[in-house]
Amino acid sequence: MPEPILHVQDLKKYFPVERSLIDRLLGKSRLYVKAVDDVSFEVYENEIFGIVGESGCGKSTLGRLIIGLIRPTSGSIIYRSSLLKRTVDIAKLREKELRVLRRELQIIFQDPYSALNPKMKIGDFIGHPLEIHGIAKGEEKRELVMKIMEKVGLVPPEEYYDRYPRELSGGQRQRVVIARALILNPRLIVADEPTSNLDVSIQARIIALLLRLRDEMKLTYIFITHSIALAQNICNRIAVMYLGKIVELGDSQAIIDEPLHPYTRLLMSSVIDPDTCKLPRVREVSEPPSPIGEIKGCRFASRCPEKLDICLKEEPPLVEVYLGHYVRCWHYVRR
Ligand SMILES: Nc1ncnc2c1ncn2[C@@H]1O[C@H](COP(=O)(O)OP(=O)(O)OP(=O)(O)O)[C@@H](O)[C@H]1O
Ligand SMILES: [Mg+2]
Repeated sequence: MPEPILHVQDLKKYFPVERSLIDRLLGKSRLYVKAVDDVSFEVYENEIFGIVGESGCGKSTLGRLIIGLIRPTSGSIIYRSSLLKRTVDIAKLREKELRVLRRELQIIFQDPYSALNPKMKIGDFIGHPLEIHGIAKGEEKRELVMKIMEKVGLVPPEEYYDRYPRELSGGQRQRVVIARALILNPRLIVADEPTSNLDVSIQARIIALLLRLRDEMKLTYIFITHSIALAQNICNRIAVMYLGKIVELGDSQAIIDEPLHPYTRLLMSSVIDPDTCKLPRVREVSEPPSPIGEIKGCRFASRCPEKLDICLKEEPPLVEVYLGHYVRCWHYVRR
């Protein structure tokens, strides 16, 4: 088994909810959104690790924690750094060390337009990290930027270098964002819904680009998406998240062949068939419960068509059903 490059352990991020003046005067205790609630997994070199789930389940929060953009409430994020030449806990690193590490850890956001600076020429935008990290400026910077522009398909680069974001299409803008994420030659990339704001044909081209870049630049991806179909197509392993917790984790193929958690099955049944364009027959229509405060029992129980009595009372543990295939569901717990 290869050594993981990343090991997320018991990670939690609780955001405090603002209390009203009346609640404060009444002495009501503070409530929290448990955006990431005790999450553990490993990521191996060169793999594509998918994080899948509905809106609000904590995917972006988890991605931001991993690259050190926000600090966890508790838990650790153990990363084997090649630049620092040691294993570090990103959760505990000082800002100065985190800055060095940002060369290795990058994020690609969902909305390319808001990630860009409208007043900056795209060549300067892509090359900015080279200046921030004191790696190159002037002509040398221009050359490195041109090279990466070619790699991401902004060709010929001299035609794009001096353009402003408003002069580009959505797909080209996302290529700019990817180029900037790659300019420092990173190792691990969190791709947070990198194609969800693009139309379908462009989505496919951006995905193909990301896959090619992974091979050419020996990248490892944490790929965040709400689309289980996309994750199953491109990821080696998938973690399915529901309200801050991983409810199923395993090889993509194992999850395609035998999805264990009722929530995973619900996500799979919601996929539109591209051949017939028929809307799926989804059995339930309810929304997830509020992520604020305590949830008793299994967090999926209120929507689960297969719930047992115990599901409403106790939270199930994450159990390994087959080698490397985990699920958090009472149906698989031996009692
Ligand atoms: N800075 C914050 N302060 C308070 N609550 C937050 C903050 N960031 C996220 N949350 C809450 O944490 C939960 C998880 O949010 P997150 O953005 O991680 O979800 P997501 O899975 O990425 O959703 P989406 O698919 O819509 O992008 C949500 O309930 C959200 O409202
Ligand atoms: Mg998100």
